Amino acid sequence: MRQPLIAGNWKMNGSKASIESLLEGIKQGMDSVQQAEVAVCAPFVYLQQVSESLKDTKIAYGAQNVSEQDNGAYTGEVSTTMLNDFACQYVIVGHSERRTLYGETDELVATKSAKAQADGLTPIICIGELLEEREAGNTEAVVARQLDAVINANGVASLENAVIAYEPVWAIGTGKTATPEQAQAVHAFIRGRIAEQDAAIADKVRILYGGSMKPANAEELVAQQDIDGGLIGGASLKAEDFLAICQAAK
Ligand code: PGA
Repeated sequence: MRQPLIAGNWKMNGSKASIESLLEGIKQGMDSVQQAEVAVCAPFVYLQQVSESLKDTKIAYGAQNVSEQDNGAYTGEVSTTMLNDFACQYVIVGHSERRTLYGETDELVATKSAKAQADGLTPIICIGELLEEREAGNTEAVVARQLDAVINANGVASLENAVIAYEPVWAIGTGKTATPEQAQAVHAFIRGRIAEQDAAIADKVRILYGGSMKPANAEELVAQQDIDGGLIGGASLKAEDFLAICQAAK
């Protein structure tokens, strides 16, 4: 049995004050969350605040990006060691916004994923196709290429300590969600591709859906056989909505 994971991706949103009230709201509602593991991925500068607020709670947290380098002259970058200083558990790698806006390649995403794992962090590896790729019938080819880059570089065994997030880019922040059937089909494809190399790991790895998941559609999405939770952007910024999604993940 895979425990569902609901992870909030706050992106570049929030302030000290708004994060304080968001975290208070989530903490207060956690008793109503029965099955899901809950995590939030915060902007780097708020990790200290998040770590203090979530100490002694069941809520995990992490960052939205990390450097593939150890340390040194990399202005503006943040290392795995730094994330460990704040006891992060998770780090998102290869989010489509990083790939599209900041030129992260499949190879770089694989390197970041390996670096995170080498230093004890669990990467949430994002993959997903653009609208034109879906419309051209290339969804499976694109997610296979993105997934294979990680498997070829790091080995299939690396997925034992990783989470995969399937995020169709056309559904991110657009209000346009993949139907449960569309999402399930890609999730099954991803799991099947991993199973070709290692059935036990394929069975164990959690594959989250991301892209306009909200209280109104979460239950139906997470009810799909191969959807093990969600990576939540917009709806993770409101405690009530985020908690409703966490409750729906059974
Ligand atoms: P969204 O973002 O829920 O706002 O669509 C999801 C994501 O980008 O992880």
